Amino acid sequence: MAMYSKIAGTGSYLPKKILTNIELESMVDTSDEWIQTRTGIVQRHIASDGQMASDLAFEASCRALDAANLKAQDIDLIILATTTPDMIFPSTACILQEKLGITDGPAFDVQAVCSGFIYALATADMFVSSGKSKNALVVGAEIYSRIVDWSDRNTCVLFGDGAGAVVLSQSEQPGILSSHLHANGGYSKILAAPGRISGGKIQGTPFIAMEGNTVFKFAVKALEEAAIESLAANNLKASDFDWFIPHQANIRIIKSTAHKLGIPMEKVVTTVDRHGNTSAASVPLALDLAVRDGRILSNQYILLEGVGGGFTWGSILLQW
Ligand code: UT7
Repeated sequence: MAMYSKIAGTGSYLPKKILTNIELESMVDTSDEWIQTRTGIVQRHIASDGQMASDLAFEASCRALDAANLKAQDIDLIILATTTPDMIFPSTACILQEKLGITDGPAFDVQAVCSGFIYALATADMFVSSGKSKNALVVGAEIYSRIVDWSDRNTCVLFGDGAGAVVLSQSEQPGILSSHLHANGGYSKILAAPGRISGGKIQGTPFIAMEGNTVFKFAVKALEEAAIESLAANNLKASDFDWFIPHQANIRIIKSTAHKLGIPMEKVVTTVDRHGNTSAASVPLALDLAVRDGRILSNQYILLEGVGGGFTWGSILLQW
């Protein structure tokens, strides 16, 4: 009997503090109207000073474990996607493991920026469907408010903090049907936080720098191509899947992609209005929302997609 990996539970967490566009108007030369028409974002959540990515990840993970009816002790693999780790090392995955009170099973971070969760889930699928792991915890957790230059209106209005998690378990029923991952480092400079630490000092700028327009065009093309690739590999048409959950960076990117693929917006899960761009956390946050509000039903086909710095992009098709 073929072994699949299947999502057994989802969870998410958003920090309490909400930063609205109106509040941003008093911080930089921007307007609620500009932000909403150009991006679809109305508000974003911001972590408190003492919160780390592992804290957000911990809350989301506990909720995913509850939903899966499992205990932390049942987890034998942790893969955590983040661009904003707690520290240089140990990995945020190891810090999360300690917070969960478990002491065995591999735990590591994945750095693929806004595609991080897609990379992490695709990797976990390899472990679980091959029988190497029984129950994997796959997390996207980000605190972008720490790497945003709050005086740069080009970027500070776009991002937010949060975490989403899933438990991926062995199953005889189909779950993850395919994953496709891509990267092209030739585009590394159009979206980067190019700072580094050397000799105890920060070298270069540790803030996000982005060529917005170039990234926008790249994202629409990559999301469209990845969807076509996934559908072809599974012998499906765009009309066959029930939910499209792309990375949440800008409602215009999402709408253009859906339009090109012929997917009605009613089948697209969107959170960018309330969360902003939470990078690796955006897809699991949106997935958890749609699972908990009852939109996602058993046996439905769901296409998850990510695109982001690197550049990296990819898709996962799954049956719920
Ligand atoms: O996860 C992947 C990461 N990032 C993304 O996916 C973001 C992709 N890019 C985008 O979402 C869009 O390119 C932006 C939202 C960043 C910008 O939208 P745009 O329609 O591409 O605008 P633009 O870059 O062409 O800028 C238009 C104008 C500029 O002024 P001028 O030069 O035309 O006078 C900007 O200076 O808007 C100005 N501008 C702003 N104005 C008010 C840029 N940011 C702001 C702002 N408020 N916050």
